[in-house]
Amino acid sequence: MLVLALGLLSEAAKIGTSSIKPLKINLSERIPHMLDLVQRTHLPAAELPAAKDSYNTSLSSGMPLSTLQSLQKEWIASFSWEKEQESINRYHHFTVEIEGQDVHFIRELSQDPKAIPIILLHGWPGSFLEMLPLIDLLTLNEPAATGSERTSFNVVVPSLPGFGLSSPAPDNWTIPDTARIFNTLMTEVLGYQTYAVHGTDWGCAVAYGLYGQFNTTVQAAHLNFLPFFPLNSEQLAALNITLSVEEEDDEQRFLDWQGAGFGYFIEQATKPNTIGLALYDNPMGQLAWIAEKFILWSDPRRGTGPSVLTDNEILRHVSLYYLTQSLVSSVYMYAQNLDGFATEYTKAKTNAPLLYSSFKYNVGFWPKTLVEEVGNLVYYKFHEFGGHFPALDNPPALADDIRMIGKYWHN
Ligand SMILES: *[C@@H]1O[C@H](CO)[C@@H](O)[C@H](O)[C@H]1NC(C)=O
Ligand SMILES: *[C@@H]1O[C@H](CO)[C@@H](O)[C@H](O)[C@H]1NC(C)=O
Ligand SMILES: *[C@@H]1O[C@H](CO)[C@@H](O)[C@H](O)[C@H]1NC(C)=O
Ligand SMILES: *[C@@H]1O[C@H](CO)[C@@H](O)[C@H](O)[C@H]1NC(C)=O
Repeated sequence: MLVLALGLLSEAAKIGTSSIKPLKINLSERIPHMLDLVQRTHLPAAELPAAKDSYNTSLSSGMPLSTLQSLQKEWIASFSWEKEQESINRYHHFTVEIEGQDVHFIRELSQDPKAIPIILLHGWPGSFLEMLPLIDLLTLNEPAATGSERTSFNVVVPSLPGFGLSSPAPDNWTIPDTARIFNTLMTEVLGYQTYAVHGTDWGCAVAYGLYGQFNTTVQAAHLNFLPFFPLNSEQLAALNITLSVEEEDDEQRFLDWQGAGFGYFIEQATKPNTIGLALYDNPMGQLAWIAEKFILWSDPRRGTGPSVLTDNEILRHVSLYYLTQSLVSSVYMYAQNLDGFATEYTKAKTNAPLLYSSFKYNVGFWPKTLVEEVGNLVYYKFHEFGGHFPALDNPPALADDIRMIGKYWHN
């Protein structure tokens, strides 16, 4: 314990430029107003007869009423932001100003002097909270399984611009801009000459941007989503890519999402202000809009087995969005990055290894041959358990795959 504390102190001194400020998260002030609104929100007594509850697929009519009712009850009766805040503050939070933007990040250090620096990048409707289950697994500061793969990491988890406690993105701000300030965070602010990246959803677009744009500092990337639009069956056939029976299933899940699960994307890309302001002071509205994604895009076994994506986890995510007033600023990412998911596949200009994990219930599917098109793919693994939020859906499997970076790390 003493050794750990001293290690943290000396590391804190190392990053001690005047602009880095330690932060304790305290969003308690707006809690009574939020809970008051939750309590006073009336929901219909019964589902409409037309509502299709193909639970856990993109083919449903959306958020099931019964689920929304039970989440509302839980939010009022047993959810405690104070308690969540305490556990969130167990990690070391900082803010730093980069190019005029306040950037919030967590940094947790491994005790291993050879630990690899890594930045973990969340997406929408995620937040830095999404990455918390990986921190202890990757720093190996919890008793770890013995074995040959003992690679550990110094972990940095920022909030993307417009999310959580980072400032809203300025006008005309795009993914490459976010990649640039995060490279500054890792190199100039935190002093790492080289580092690894991991990203999911929009975070994968930032991670992939870092991988290609900063090919001297980014020495490895791990992704579980790609910033390239998945291909449909005809496009795959045109490339002579044939799928296994299981892969056909994954492909169908993508096609269902593209056909019936994509409305939020168009809305957020074209009228971010309308949805953002409609839900601004409406926690139950934010719950319906956000929880639908957590539920439909994750493994149907959500909250069981390795999955920590419980109802409480959903409520603390939505509470964070509400309490930091970041729903409106977060959805602007779609409008500001209309070409964020490219339709033409290109290879990043780097020799750095790319590792990829495919989780069965994800909404996008890229077979190995396709991932090979975009980078120096050295590792591709399919997982039966997990979906679009693998850091919550199946944190041990994701951490094991990220840890494989150690095998290819040369610095
Ligand atoms: C959080 O801030 C409120 C004021 O908004 C204050 O009353 C409370 O003591 C603070 N909580 C902590 C844990 O610092
Ligand atoms: C954003 O881009 C538009 C179109 O190029 C330009 O007119 C505007 O001045 C830019 N805004 C800022 C703040 O740079
Ligand atoms: C696909 O296979 C066919 C038949 O073998 C071949 O003619 C065609 O060039 C291939 N297309 C690509 C994109 O490799
Ligand atoms: C790294 O990026 C630079 C600038 O885009 C490029 O000239 C160089 O070829 C890249 N390195 C590799 C190994 O692709």
